[in-house]
Amino acid sequence: MLYTRVLKPLFFLFDPELVHEWMVFWGEMFGYSSLARAVLARVWGYRGPDISKVVDGVRYERPVLLSAGFDYNGRLTQVLSSIAFGGEEVGSVTALPCGGNVKPRLTRLPRNKSIVVFKGLRNRGVDALIRLLYLKKPVPGFVVGISIAQTNNSSITNEEEALQDYLTSFKALNEAGAGDYYTINISCPNAYGGETFATPRLLQKMIDGLQTIPTKKPVYFKMPINLKWPECNTLLQIIDKSPYQGVVIGNLNKKYEMLDYPEDAPKEFRGGLSGKPCFELSNELIRKTREAYGSRFTIIGVGGIFSGEDALAKFHAGADLVQLITGMIFEGPGLIKEICHTYAVEFAHSAAI
Ligand SMILES: Cc1cc2nc3c(=O)[nH]c(=O)nc-3n(C[C@H](O)[C@H](O)[C@H](O)COP(=O)(O)O)c2cc1C
Repeated sequence: MLYTRVLKPLFFLFDPELVHEWMVFWGEMFGYSSLARAVLARVWGYRGPDISKVVDGVRYERPVLLSAGFDYNGRLTQVLSSIAFGGEEVGSVTALPCGGNVKPRLTRLPRNKSIVVFKGLRNRGVDALIRLLYLKKPVPGFVVGISIAQTNNSSITNEEEALQDYLTSFKALNEAGAGDYYTINISCPNAYGGETFATPRLLQKMIDGLQTIPTKKPVYFKMPINLKWPECNTLLQIIDKSPYQGVVIGNLNKKYEMLDYPEDAPKEFRGGLSGKPCFELSNELIRKTREAYGSRFTIIGVGGIFSGEDALAKFHAGADLVQLITGMIFEGPGLIKEICHTYAVEFAHSAAI
């Protein structure tokens, strides 16, 4: 109520990127203060039955994570557990710092429950992230995944350079022992050159490259969401043959015509859509992946979660964990607690049957 009636109308008067920066700034500040964390936990923390689970050897106190794209630089690792998150995916981080695309980089589409995202991977680079994660020491029990993408600038002119760029980050993170899992973002629609590694040939090349670098952490691939099932399945078959654990389904929706009110969208393509336009597409791919591959893949479900019921739809489709961003922006931090409670009721009930 406090958020949807008071804070959100106020925030929505300002530029979305500015509000995002305020949120990250204050989130980081609150993270430094045990009193502020206790107050946040009092209001938005989860205090229900045990809903922890272990996925690929990593223990999640709660199966809800902040998705990649909110905390690019790993500044919120100390505060997010106070508002019920079990973890977050930091990044996407790139080998070199990126300034991002030209503004506007974020556009709200309130009637569509969506945001047009044209950030262009604005982040401080992998070395700065490693330093910060080391200095800040995430809260014990809070899972930090790290999403890796390709440096977004025109200095990368071919696929070999692009691959080496990903591998530089992957190697640096592994050598530093940073993070609890890694996601390879093969499907960023906003980077220079587009979704460079979401084709069978390039995905195979990526997997071959990754295998030259030893890792002790689970590795997931973030899938594009606009693929038809046969194309998606072709990519999954390649991942199936790899030693890697799973997939994050999925990334932003590139089809503006799928909006409820397409007339609100920019006339030209200016980045992918988050939120509601991702919901069904992601659920469908999660369901088909689970049906086709059984328990072979860990599936992290993301896209358009605005309520506890939305999150349940992803778990019932086959997700092991869920992530979100846009729902938190539209519904407030209470959403995470709501999801945890809905999950507890549903799965405690199923267990009783
Ligand atoms: C502001 C913003 C920035 C994003 N940046 C990234 C990114 O850097 N890497 C990535 O894998 N996904 C990124 N995403 C996509 C989200 O991780 C997520 O897949 C998508 O927004 C769907 O989830 P949602 O509907 O809960 O927002 C971004 C999303 C938003 C809203």
